[in-house]
Amino acid sequence: MLLSTKREEQRGAAESSLLHLIARFEATGSAVEVNFRQLMSSDGSTNKSAHAIHPYPAKLLVNIPQFFLAALPTVSGSALLDPFCGSGTVLYEGMLAGLRPIGSDSNPLARLITTAKLTPLDRAIARRHLDEVMAAYPSASPNIPDVVNRDYWFSERISDCLGRLKTAIQRNVPAPYRPVFDVSFSATARRVSYADPRLSVPVKINPDRSARYGAKGDEVIRRLVRLGEVDVGALFWSIASQNIQRCPELGQLFAVDRPEIFSDARSLGVAEASVDLAITSPPYVGAQKYVRASSLSLGWLGLTPDCKLRPIERQSIGREHLAADEALTSSGTGIPEADALLEEIVERNPLRARIAQRYLLEMRDALSELSRTMRHDGNLVLVVGPNLVAGLEFPTPFFLQRIAEGLGFSTKLHLLDSIASRGLMTKRNRTAGLIQQESVFLLKRVRTGA
Ligand SMILES: C[S@@+](CC[C@H](N)C(=O)[O-])C[C@H]1O[C@@H](n2cnc3c(N)ncnc32)[C@H](O)[C@@H]1O
Repeated sequence: MLLSTKREEQRGAAESSLLHLIARFEATGSAVEVNFRQLMSSDGSTNKSAHAIHPYPAKLLVNIPQFFLAALPTVSGSALLDPFCGSGTVLYEGMLAGLRPIGSDSNPLARLITTAKLTPLDRAIARRHLDEVMAAYPSASPNIPDVVNRDYWFSERISDCLGRLKTAIQRNVPAPYRPVFDVSFSATARRVSYADPRLSVPVKINPDRSARYGAKGDEVIRRLVRLGEVDVGALFWSIASQNIQRCPELGQLFAVDRPEIFSDARSLGVAEASVDLAITSPPYVGAQKYVRASSLSLGWLGLTPDCKLRPIERQSIGREHLAADEALTSSGTGIPEADALLEEIVERNPLRARIAQRYLLEMRDALSELSRTMRHDGNLVLVVGPNLVAGLEFPTPFFLQRIAEGLGFSTKLHLLDSIASRGLMTKRNRTAGLIQQESVFLLKRVRTGA
């Protein structure tokens, strides 16, 4: 009762904040600065919630979906889509709000994390399976998959322990309970690798360079020493026990049978005009390495066929490796400002120009598919930041807004939120820049069949 009163209060406050922000945007015609952490104060329990079951780069600030889910009118059981769902931040919050989550992500690790978050468990049964896994683990014969450069990232002893855990999970955990066990196994593998825990893309800890680790140097080196004696089984048990507690409990609040998660935002198995609300943060141009950041997990989980990351990367929008036939097209992107900027970029760095153009063309395909699935009057919340391409400012928010407007969306609100850090936004070769202010657009689907 108390909880529902608090929710009603939050909803009322969010609705009036949104109306106020729209009025300011309409009056000035320019983006309104906000701080989502203040606009929608979270209850601080995120670490205990399903969002903490596994790390994922560039997770969306949870306050953003929480704000829009409270502020926008929604009908219980209606469809909520996140075509770039990553670790499922939006979909999990939507499910808590009583909506039917539909997602897609090209990274199989993202799909696994999202599935685990959205799959309600009977916690008592899950704990029983955990006991069975722990009982089988010591004598299980190791199943060690082809992990890229396994010996570089893991000691022989640790590989053997992980291999035995893998067998024990495969033999003892039935399908509906597998996602939470696989996610916990993947989080364990990452924790017992030689990868520096502070970075999302694996970089091996090097004791000879401890001075470079700054204030945290000693801690990083101590971690390396601890790896020599770490009890992999006990660590897995602790991660899995916490995750079982974090995942939704069967029969409480949630009505999801099987989450619908597709693998490409450009081709969703969703009926036309069936989605009421979409909230998403698309990938960035040339600034992300989602697949590389997931490589150790993908390998141990057996999600990389033949130990190769390229086939997964090829499906990723914003990727940095292009095939030879993915050349710069002379027909352009359809956005005159983008085509003019690409001409400047090509002078500085032809490869960066190809990557950026390909990104815009593929984002057009994804937004076109999104537009197809959305019903007339449905709302789209798009979260996206600008970055640098070959040292030039690349206004991705403006370009994606233009593309969306050409596909039947109209802009109702443009907000700017400052972000402290997003896992993958590193200054690299002076070609990709740090993102400081993110645009949050509220767009309405106004025409059908655009
Ligand atoms: C900014 S992240 C989303 C993060 C997410 N909101 C979260 O909180 O974890 C963008 C995601 O887009 C995914 N992606 C890239 N290309 C894609 C495609 N063609 N279809 C679907 N997802 C794609 C990436 O794998 C990445 O997980």
